[in-house]
Amino acid sequence: MRDPASEPIAGTESPEESAAITLDDVWVRFGKPADPVIAARELTLRIPRGKIFCLLGPNGSGKTTAINLISGLLSPSQGQVRVFGHTPDKDRTRTLSKIAVVPQETTLYDSLDARENLFFHGHYYGVDSARLPGLVDHVIDLVQLTDRAKHRVGTYSGGMQRRLTLARALLTEPEALLLDEPTLGVDVQSRRALWDRIRELADGGMSVLLTTNYMEEAEELADYITILDHGRKVVDGTLDELRARVAEQRLLLHFDAADVADQAAASLSRASRPGGEADATVEVALNDPKEAMRVVSSLRENGSLGDRLEGFEWSEPNLQDVFLQFTGRALRD
Ligand SMILES: Nc1ncnc2c1ncn2[C@@H]1O[C@H](COP(=O)(O)OP(=O)(O)O)[C@@H](O)[C@H]1O
Ligand SMILES: [Mg+2]
Repeated sequence: MRDPASEPIAGTESPEESAAITLDDVWVRFGKPADPVIAARELTLRIPRGKIFCLLGPNGSGKTTAINLISGLLSPSQGQVRVFGHTPDKDRTRTLSKIAVVPQETTLYDSLDARENLFFHGHYYGVDSARLPGLVDHVIDLVQLTDRAKHRVGTYSGGMQRRLTLARALLTEPEALLLDEPTLGVDVQSRRALWDRIRELADGGMSVLLTTNYMEEAEELADYITILDHGRKVVDGTLDELRARVAEQRLLLHFDAADVADQAAASLSRASRPGGEADATVEVALNDPKEAMRVVSSLRENGSLGDRLEGFEWSEPNLQDVFLQFTGRALRD
């Protein structure tokens, strides 16, 4: 819960301070200086408060590196990382009082049950012991594991273990949650449950940084997306902004006769007849996805053409198209 007294005074808050987490021109180099592996290159990120910020990228693109920089496990070779005003590698204790991490590898005690795992973690992180039992019940309920709370964690499915790891992260009541590929290898039902919880947490004011290489996950959850490749930011923005940057966006209109398609093509701008004269399809190139509905409604208002429109399709560009356009490769090569 946020204490209003500790919030910056209105009007004094700069855009820098309003971000929960910032990375400025961060480089991470591993290995020999002469032949380094570069895991982050001039990486600049602004992770806002109360939103879901997604780092999307293939394996090895630097997602876990970013999480490790923010949680202070890794120091930048160059550049600056700030987490609610703290420098994570220099001040891990204060950083970890503000954030919690759900790591890529699930690290639970298999021989303990869910409650025992959470009590252990709570004591370790110094959660007030008077409040701990209530918090444990609350977070177990939140991830819908109450029925299984007394079962050994070793008997849980992968998805249940991920949910418990999320519950564990919430025990310390963080202001920001870092989720490193939270649904990797998780069954569909648990994935949906995790997505719902993550969305609810952000709606409740939590700042969420989520990494994934699942486009569907970014499309479903992210308020902001940064695409990473080889440790570098490829492109960033909201889902709509990224889609709008894909050059090829097309609306296909199917009419009931070729001559009607000719008339329609003549009446619309940026229209063509990709199937040739005998075909009754018109293709319209769009600048903006929102134009698709405008074109269809304008046709519908024009009775002579609208009545002859049998159907339309619009292939909305997805993040795969965005990735392809900016890197020249498929997201999962
Ligand atoms: N400790 C390390 N030593 C050497 N190379 C590393 C180390 N950690 C990560 N890397 C390399 O840095 C790159 C980014 O890794 P990582 O951040 O784990 O990617 P992701 O999480 O996106 O799969 C990869 O090429 C990886 O092999
Ligand atoms: Mg990783």
